[in-house]
Amino acid sequence: MTGSIAEEKINAIRNVADIIDIVSETVLLKKAGANHIGLCPFHSEKTPSFTVRHDKQIFHCFGCGIGGDVFSFLMKNEGISFPEAARKLARRYGIEIPDRSFSPEQDRLIREREELLAVNQIAMEYYHGILLEQTAGKKALAYLTGRGISTETIQKFRLGYAPAGWDQLVKFLGGKRLSLKSAENAGLITAKQNGYYDRFRSRIMFPIMNISNQVIAFGGRVMDDALPKYLNSPETPIFHKSRTLYGLHLAKKKCRESDSIFIVEGYMDFLALFQGGIENAAATLGTAMTSEHIRSLKGFASKAILVYDSDQAGLKAAQRSIAVMNKDLKESRILVLPAGYDPDSYIKEFGPREFQRHAEKALGVFEFLVESAVKKHGLSIEGKLRVIAELETYLVSVKDSLDLALYSKELAERIQVDQQTVLDAMRRRLQSKEGPRPAAIQAADSRMPEGALRQAVPRNRMERRIIAKMIQFPEKTIPLIESENVLNYFEDQILKSIGTGIMTCNGSGARKTAQLLGETANPEQRRLITSLAMGEEPFHAEGWCRLIRQFIESHKKHLGKALSKKIKEAEAAHDQEGLIRLLTEKQRQISEKQLKPKDASGGKRL
Ligand code: UTP
Ligand code: MN
Repeated sequence: MTGSIAEEKINAIRNVADIIDIVSETVLLKKAGANHIGLCPFHSEKTPSFTVRHDKQIFHCFGCGIGGDVFSFLMKNEGISFPEAARKLARRYGIEIPDRSFSPEQDRLIREREELLAVNQIAMEYYHGILLEQTAGKKALAYLTGRGISTETIQKFRLGYAPAGWDQLVKFLGGKRLSLKSAENAGLITAKQNGYYDRFRSRIMFPIMNISNQVIAFGGRVMDDALPKYLNSPETPIFHKSRTLYGLHLAKKKCRESDSIFIVEGYMDFLALFQGGIENAAATLGTAMTSEHIRSLKGFASKAILVYDSDQAGLKAAQRSIAVMNKDLKESRILVLPAGYDPDSYIKEFGPREFQRHAEKALGVFEFLVESAVKKHGLSIEGKLRVIAELETYLVSVKDSLDLALYSKELAERIQVDQQTVLDAMRRRLQSKEGPRPAAIQAADSRMPEGALRQAVPRNRMERRIIAKMIQFPEKTIPLIESENVLNYFEDQILKSIGTGIMTCNGSGARKTAQLLGETANPEQRRLITSLAMGEEPFHAEGWCRLIRQFIESHKKHLGKALSKKIKEAEAAHDQEGLIRLLTEKQRQISEKQLKPKDASGGKRL
């Protein structure tokens, strides 16, 4: 995570940097108790939920959930990498960092990327010149004009034309004494027995740019019915199709302003939107929307509207993406165009205004799934059961308990059944699958006023409380955690690994949280850490011991119950061997209980 900067420098920066100073440069902060609060720079809000703690040197937004330390604030806010943020802070606080030195392997990779970018850039200008200035490009230019693409759009997006013939680009590059090897690596030309051939021939060229305006690949369209209709560059070290969104480099400005983006499926669809003044848009490259795509939108838009040209395509996308969409996006909706239209033809016929108007009716991803299921099964009693059964499939993949609670509520209201019925159905499904314990469902259940699950011990909640205390009071809590091996009893693996992180991380006092964040790469974990660190309760040694005791007891009870259940099953199945093994285990549990005197906690009483 530190790039090429020495760990001790990072620690030195962490010790002197002041998060209030740094955040204050962009956010107006007001003091409120132990916190400073202001309007979150990462999502739009009217009442401040962005909170900064001076003592712990961390920030957390209660609105959008984002959080971190002074490094991650700079990274997010300025869109820079960790080493860049570290260097910036070092300069500001007068810490000297020797110039970076890369390993030979790193050097090679950097050079390789630069070569690929350079040859793509040359090819892009070559294709662009042919389209706009040469006879060979005339037909292509007429084709684009015929499809309503203006010269201005052609120039903005550097559209081009790859001429007919087998080796036009090869000759052009050769004539300039450019390395054909790097053109081959970029997928622009391919080696055959007797020399190199152009990959793109007689195709309209769409340069694909990364967010920093560098050409990383091309899509090329034929002008007739030949196949494939579009040919794309192969995957290279600088191009990964499933991460890339076409057009985002120019769309990002409007995305930031509106905090939203239209995601369409095709190059031409994107261009039609953009040219029509809907500039907050981008296109996938013929692949489904992935979580990597969504990640690339971070900092640009937190609301996405996925545009599809049929119910079927929309449904498929909704089914596939429900689990990922809500993780990094605040809102995701599905817009299905009337049958027979794609965004390009829709805008051509009805205009961009009408498109926007139509978009306002787009349903949320979940709502879309519900409506599709209702359409399919109807709302008879039988139909409702089918709708629930169909939605369960997607709901069980939703990890966040609040989302789950909201979804099940939404579903229950739409089809007019009791919310508990929906939650119960999901739990049954999960249990029948014998998957991992449905922590999210349990938590969602406990958010209900009269959750039937509430009598069951919300163990995940206890785990959260334990970790929260550990983050807030590491020195006071670690001894007991260590002596009782408490983390071993954890079920939630994320909470457990945060706990382990707290035990092993070096920082001390209030700054330990920042240190811990520095050592945690996983964004989900970081979010959880900052949100748990924000707690304000005082520390009571007695309460702490009680919490740990209850937790361990509940864990043992749970183990005991599970074991008894297995024993019964083994008896019923006449599984002698299994029975013996289980009974031995049971015996061990009992004798452990007896052997362990009440005060065997290494001097610390539980
Ligand atoms: P479409 O077939 O919907 O193309 O494919 P389109 O964008 O509407 O193009 P026009 O209007 O026919 O010119 C959608 C996207 O799928 C990818 C491309 O990224 C395309 O924009 N695709 C499609 C391919 O990669 N290869 C193909 O052969 C076809
Ligand atoms: Mn089209």
